[in-house]
Amino acid sequence: MQDVFDLVIFGGGGDLSRRKLLPALFSGFVAGRVSKDSRIFLTSRKGLEGSTEPWLKDVFKETPPACDMDAKSLKDFAGMVHVVELGLVEGGADWEALKGALAADDENRPLVHFLAIPPSLFTSTCELLGAYGLNNDRARVVLEKPLGHDLATAQAINADVGRFFKESQTFRIDHYLGKEAVQNLLALRFSNILFEELWSGRTIDHIQITIAENQGLQGRKGFYEGTGAMRDMVQNHLLQLLCLVAMEPPARLEADSIREEKLKVLKSLKPLEGAEIDRNVVRGQYQAGAMFGEAVKGYADDLELDSPSNTETFVALKAHIENWRWAGVPFYLRTGKRLPDRFAEIVIQFKQIPHSPHPGWGTNINPNRFIIRMQPEDHLALRMMVKNHSSADEKLKEVEMNLDVAGDDALRIGPYLRLILDAVRGDQSLFVHRDEVEHAWRWVDRIIGHWETSSEPPESYQAGTWGPYEAHDLMTRDRREWFHET
Ligand code: BG6
Repeated sequence: MQDVFDLVIFGGGGDLSRRKLLPALFSGFVAGRVSKDSRIFLTSRKGLEGSTEPWLKDVFKETPPACDMDAKSLKDFAGMVHVVELGLVEGGADWEALKGALAADDENRPLVHFLAIPPSLFTSTCELLGAYGLNNDRARVVLEKPLGHDLATAQAINADVGRFFKESQTFRIDHYLGKEAVQNLLALRFSNILFEELWSGRTIDHIQITIAENQGLQGRKGFYEGTGAMRDMVQNHLLQLLCLVAMEPPARLEADSIREEKLKVLKSLKPLEGAEIDRNVVRGQYQAGAMFGEAVKGYADDLELDSPSNTETFVALKAHIENWRWAGVPFYLRTGKRLPDRFAEIVIQFKQIPHSPHPGWGTNINPNRFIIRMQPEDHLALRMMVKNHSSADEKLKEVEMNLDVAGDDALRIGPYLRLILDAVRGDQSLFVHRDEVEHAWRWVDRIIGHWETSSEPPESYQAGTWGPYEAHDLMTRDRREWFHET
């Protein structure tokens, strides 16, 4: 299906637009998912250097789209892209021009405003959209995370945006929800009785969710120093993944039902306080180390700071959901920069068998694990023990049952394109409701507040290792281990 729409990317020349949105839109165009009749407006305070086509070529050189790029496709795509010089604090002739450019003959053509700008500009931009009538019925606004800096700022943004856009027009994006394997997790959980029957503390020992990155700051120094891993990754991506794994089956796979169930999970998260935070939450910061045979700098040197920074680049924590299904099941969440590998993965670890009926069959009986890998590749696998034909001593071996659906690669689209197209169609299933954002902040704020009042700096870890020792200890204390820690 081809979508025809008008998309305005506020912050069109910025990092998010260059690294994620434009490559995704171009791939969508080449794959025939975005019609050439669509229009993409890039707003920027100072305009762009040079004309659009060579500029786009440079953008795609930096971040190659997930498709082949030939001169004709680039030229056609460039023809859809319009650059608009625009300030986001005050209105004026530039806004009149945008309004004029966006006038459409077709009242039903969706108009999506993607705010790829710092949250501090959300309010003034929405006010201006309102003042120029660009919040009309065909309009939707997409808000990039992090939404605010804490609960109070998130509430203020939600209230401000809410003055100009209805909740049904507001799309809070978390690109992890657009990943293919996350879709597959929902399909699998709610289309198979097998999983639902096993999906609780009766059978599951614990759950691990890891988003590991080997990269450092990638030029986002100012942003990161004021944000840190808890606000950048845990408050949104990791807690959203936890919600999808833990939520009850929704009545229908539709926005309201899904979001209601996710919200219940956030409301059931056991709040951590004081000493519990010290015991269950590890924060770390990378120091100089080596990665892929090359020396890399520590965080403070990456930022060229004279004094030490208190910002965490790593978080590992143990959380509990206080409800019937998950009582007593720990959820271990972990994320960090400059770790040895880049991957995102959910590991559902089932309980050990209660009794081995074959005492002579070897001792290595691993618990079953269901692994949902979101990147770098999508992969769903069930690990189980079977008879080992090739060893006289160890009669059992672990095998992996691969649950990937082969052959539909052409239909796969990246998370940003999927979510933009959902916003175009008005489907909010994979977007976050304001109540979810606020509850996630409420939980995270307690931890950050505790860090701020204690004078403890983050634990150190060497770049290229799996984080501070304390993260390892978080697991071994419970006689468990991170699935990837070698
Ligand atoms: C973003 C964070 O939301 O997600 C970045 O701001 C992080 O710091 C990125 O690098 C990770 O996304 P992905 O899809 O590359 O894992």
